[in-house]
Amino acid sequence: MGLFPAMSKFIRKGKCLFLLLLCLCVVAWIATLSNDDTVEPVQEGSNPPEDKSVEGFAKLELESEMMQSIEERVEEQAAKESCPERSPLLRGAFKLSFDPSLKIGQVESENGEVVEGQYNPSDCTARQSVAILIPHRNREKHLLYLLYHLHPFLQRQQLHYAIYVIHQAGDATFNRAKLLNVGYLEALKDHSWDCFIFHDVDLVPENDHNLYMCEDQPKHLVVGRNSTGYKLRYKGYFGGVSAMTKDQFHKVNGFPNSYWGWGGEDDDLRIRVTLQKMSIIRPSPEVARYTMVFHKRDSGNQINKDRMQLLRRTHQAWKTDGLNSCSYKILSVHRAPLFINITADIGRPEHAH
Ligand code: BGC
Repeated sequence: MGLFPAMSKFIRKGKCLFLLLLCLCVVAWIATLSNDDTVEPVQEGSNPPEDKSVEGFAKLELESEMMQSIEERVEEQAAKESCPERSPLLRGAFKLSFDPSLKIGQVESENGEVVEGQYNPSDCTARQSVAILIPHRNREKHLLYLLYHLHPFLQRQQLHYAIYVIHQAGDATFNRAKLLNVGYLEALKDHSWDCFIFHDVDLVPENDHNLYMCEDQPKHLVVGRNSTGYKLRYKGYFGGVSAMTKDQFHKVNGFPNSYWGWGGEDDDLRIRVTLQKMSIIRPSPEVARYTMVFHKRDSGNQINKDRMQLLRRTHQAWKTDGLNSCSYKILSVHRAPLFINITADIGRPEHAH
């Protein structure tokens, strides 16, 4: 083999090698270019790409401020000790007053710490969160007297509480029980309340040792009232003001919806409670005392003549007539300074035309 053919073979091999290298370089260059344009997918939980614009910095600052204030509030809440088992603010029996010239503005200014019907003690963590449900129609003066006495009463008990007034719209016969079901369902949209107090608008508590808190059994709070010589009306009486936990009330499927007019719905609730093998407890008669604000029977709340018949079917009907069948339409929710005012259309009795 001469020198010339050997050299030309070497040059040919070199050319191939050169072409191969060139190809590799082009491929590598294209790869770098396409890498530059690729948007990294944001992994769940990974940090988003940093936004270095002015708006980006402002947003970051705002977010960190918000986080800080949430953390501070959580720390504050954790640092607050639980309120004592017995509030040091309780006064026992007190004299009630019903001043005909009382105005809502006065009640508002005396309860500056109540915001949109809700109050939380500032110096300790309340032992229970309690929703007070008051069914209502055309009893403005009674409501005013009740708010006047109840707000300071509940604050002395160091409760986290809110007062809901459930107003029945329209001219159908009054239905206390269904309004209370509506109140329960609607209040739970605001907060997971531990305890519910079902409260007539015309009953004002006389002694703040009568605690508006729930126990391991449903509690009846009106042992006596001025209008009945402070005697329990009858052994199974469960009307006026009663307290049940969220779970106790859920377990009995709430109140019946089918009691239109006065009477029977509270007896129905008692039957539901006993069917669930719960019993009714009461505070002592010296403590569980109420003043009933005088009134004539309301028009639109005539005695329910069907009540005895309805009570006979409770042991079956409780399963299908209650919270699980409570149909209604909310017409408005107004957050007034001292109470949450829910106006609901709850329909009318089925047999009415
Ligand atoms: C009614 C109850 C009422 C009680 C006391 C009973 O006959 O059924 O609804 O609470 O009387 O007035």
